[in-house]
Formats: sequence, structure tokens, C-alpha cells
Amino acid sequence: MTLLVKNAYSLISKRGLAQATSATTTAAKSTTPRLKTFKIYRWNPDKPTEKPELKAYQVDLNNCGPMILDALLKIKNEQDTTLTFRRSCREGICGSCAMNIGGRNTLACLCKIDQDESKQTKIYPLPHMYIVKDLVPDLTNFYQQYKSIQPYLQRKDYPADGKEVLQSIEDRKKLDGLYECILCACCSTSCPSYWWNQEEYLGPAVLMQAYRWLVDSRDQATKMRQDMLQNSMSLYRCHTIMNCTKTCPKGLNPGRSIAEIKKQLAL
Ligand code: SF4
Ligand code: SF4
Ligand code: FES
Repeated sequence: MTLLVKNAYSLISKRGLAQATSATTTAAKSTTPRLKTFKIYRWNPDKPTEKPELKAYQVDLNNCGPMILDALLKIKNEQDTTLTFRRSCREGICGSCAMNIGGRNTLACLCKIDQDESKQTKIYPLPHMYIVKDLVPDLTNFYQQYKSIQPYLQRKDYPADGKEVLQSIEDRKKLDGLYECILCACCSTSCPSYWWNQEEYLGPAVLMQAYRWLVDSRDQATKMRQDMLQNSMSLYRCHTIMNCTKTCPKGLNPGRSIAEIKKQLAL
């Protein structure tokens, strides 16, 4: 019995020692700062004579959440309240934190911080857009283009029973991979054709939504929707470079939707 108790005691003390050692290591780890530099695009419309600049901020990764948005919030809360960016949901749903991080358009809340402190991370606003301030692009034209495709159900007749317009399971499936778009504009602002023709070319995000309504079995405005795209600029500026699909932070494929519209119009 004594032996049993002694063994149990030594087991507990070994475990206790191991826990204590691990706690000490963690404490030692967290007291050594892991400073990472973030270089962030800054431009203030209230000081129009001052050129935009990349401003460096250092963040201790030991005391920061894992995502780029965590670092931005930490900088804004603790170092520079003037840093301006959009965010809302912090989970890839609202689309407002879209920006160019390390050379790629993505969502700050879904983009992990590269834990290598020796590497700097550069953050710019979405490219080739007018800038409101710092990391905030002006999306007025983007939203107007979205509005122009009339992104809502259009029908001449409705079911006599006054209930909802039904759709088969197969037809509903055709909307998968399209309705999930959060209109973050990462794809459109990564598209060279959109950079140079954004007054007239609708760009991948809006075209994917145009396709979403073209394939919706409940919609009866197909001809009008097709006619709207049948010109040299709205759709045919896409040269299938596929930057859009590569960059989409939601894993969607706007390039494929554009190809499908072209196929529909050709038939
Ligand atoms: S596939 Fe078309 S829309 Fe997508 S990036 Fe290329 S040109 Fe732009
Ligand atoms: S297709 Fe992807 S990248 Fe483009 S707007 Fe939608 S969610 Fe954003
Ligand atoms: S904060 Fe909403 S998508 Fe990033």
C-alpha cells in the first residue's frame, strides 16, 4: 500500500514537474517579444499635398491573434488610431476587409499572419481603385455595376396559389458556387482587363452574379439579361487570364461563370 501510494505520489510529482516546466517555457516564450514588421499603405485625403507612403509598424506576435485583421486592429487600438480600414464580421462573410496582402487580394480576417518575424508583410488597398483613405477603396462604381445587372428575380407570372416559385433540386444545385459570393471585389480588382476598362467592363464579380441570374430556373428575364451583355465591352473584355479565380478568398470560380455566359451567348 505504501509502495502504491509512493508510486502514485512520484507520478503526480513528475506530472506536476512537467506541467511546471511547460508553464515556465511558455512564460519564457511569451516574455521574449516576437516583433514582426507590417508595412501599411497610408494616404490621407485631408492632406492632399502629401504623397502616399508605406508606414512601418511592429507587432509582438506573442500578443496578437493569428489573422492579419488581428494585427491591423492591434495597431489601430494601441499604436495609431488614424489607421483606416473596413471590417465588420471578422469571419469572411461581409466582404468589407478585402485588401492586398503580401501581393494578393484577399480578406484580412481570413488571411493568416506569416509567423516568420524576419519577413515583413506589406499591406495595400485593393489595386487600381480610387482610394477614400488608407486601406479603404471607393467601391461606388463596383456597386453601380452590380445594380446594373438587376440582381433580383424577375417574372411576368406567379403561381396561382400565391405561394413561392418552386425549383427542382437539380435546378437549385446550379446556383451552388455562385450565390456564396460576398461581393468583396478581390477578383475584379485582380483582373487586368478590369484595371484598364472598369468604366465599361463589368468584371468577374458582377459577371458571376449576372450568370447566377441567367441560370436561375425561376427567372424569366433571361433574354433581357443576355442582350445586356451582348456588346464588345461588358463581357468580352475577359481574356480568360484567370487571376480572378486564383485570388477568390471564398474559393469560387468567376472565370468559369464568364466562360459559361460566353457559351450561352454563342448558342
Ligand atoms: S478570367 Fe477574365 S475576368 Fe478573370 S481575371 Fe482573367 S480577364 Fe479578368
Ligand atoms: S467571386 Fe470571390 S473574390 Fe469575387 S467578389 Fe465574389 S467572393 Fe469576392
Ligand atoms: S471582416 Fe467581414 S469579411 Fe473580413
